[in-house]
Amino acid sequence: QNTMTPAAYERHTAELTNCIIAFLSPILPTEEEYRIKEATRRQLERLASKVSPGAKLLAFGSMANGFALRNSDMDLCCLTSKKDGKPATQHTASELVEILSQLIREETDFNVMPLPRARIPIIKISRAPTPELPYEIACDIGFENRLALENTRLLLSYAMVDPPRLRTLVLFLKVWSKRRKLNSPYTGTLSSYGYTLLALYFLTHVKRPAVLPNLQRVPPTRQLKPEELELDGHNIYFYDDVATLRKEWTSQNTENVGELLIEFFRYFSKEFSYAKDVISLRTEGGLLSKDSKSWNSELCIEDPFQMGYNVSRTVTKDGLYTIRGEFMRASRILMNPKSQRVSALIAELC
Ligand code: GTP
Ligand code: MG
Repeated sequence: QNTMTPAAYERHTAELTNCIIAFLSPILPTEEEYRIKEATRRQLERLASKVSPGAKLLAFGSMANGFALRNSDMDLCCLTSKKDGKPATQHTASELVEILSQLIREETDFNVMPLPRARIPIIKISRAPTPELPYEIACDIGFENRLALENTRLLLSYAMVDPPRLRTLVLFLKVWSKRRKLNSPYTGTLSSYGYTLLALYFLTHVKRPAVLPNLQRVPPTRQLKPEELELDGHNIYFYDDVATLRKEWTSQNTENVGELLIEFFRYFSKEFSYAKDVISLRTEGGLLSKDSKSWNSELCIEDPFQMGYNVSRTVTKDGLYTIRGEFMRASRILMNPKSQRVSALIAELC
């Protein structure tokens, strides 16, 4: 319960905003970390192009979407160049995993683990920090995953429309969910990508006035090429002219990050209907019913481009129970107007 007077609440959220920013600043990646990761990407790209001439290795996920924390993993996607729509080499993804893994082993000092028979074949690469290169590298290389490149670009576009609020909120949720052990799809909770979609849904569809426009529903202002509209049968359109948006989109919503964070936790503790609803960013209202999609997972978040794909399918009953308990705990701590300093609240929260 909010027992603060409006003026006290305003002071509280303003201070909370400053504390969140101060808390995040030392755990953002440094310029040097970006440089080392980019050099690693280029080194691996050279090797990939030996296996398949013209191959590109593109970053997706947090290194490319504006939501990176210090020492995040690198997600790379290998695109083999196509002439006349045909692959440059006849290799399957599994074969590419085997061949490229072998080459990386021979020519670098990375630890290499090929997973050619996984549902999505990947190569896992790592290297422990050394005095000369004091950054741990952990990298997954996948193949031809163009949808991941597109959803990375969607997230990056959102991040650029309102960087102060969206980026801060997402980065905080990532740190919080990792420290509270709620960010582990393999053991029943939600991926960073899932938390990011929750934040986008909240800022675009729950908050009134909205903090962000729905980029998948902003009409195009130019003629689009077919490849900008469809990929593997999925509608991948979104408004990506961020320069224009930054000039023309001004949200009527003036809430600060502290206030948005408190409301985010309250909304997902108390208001969101986990039993009935599916989060669907691309739609007008942001929600569909589980019935209409015949989905029955504990938590349902439709991928922005792959309508048949539930991003939170990994969340188990226990996992959701834990996550909701943590949303409530966070709500309680952030609204607790004890005499504590606000910075202490954040330490307690994470
Ligand atoms: P950290 O690795 O925790 O820093 O976060 P991240 O921003 O890299 O997110 P995450 O590792 O969860 O996902 C990386 C990228 O993989 C996302 O940006 C998506 O492009 C893609 N991805 C992850 N999970 C899914 C999923 O369930 N479905 C789809 N389609 N793509 C996903
Ligand atoms: Mg990642």
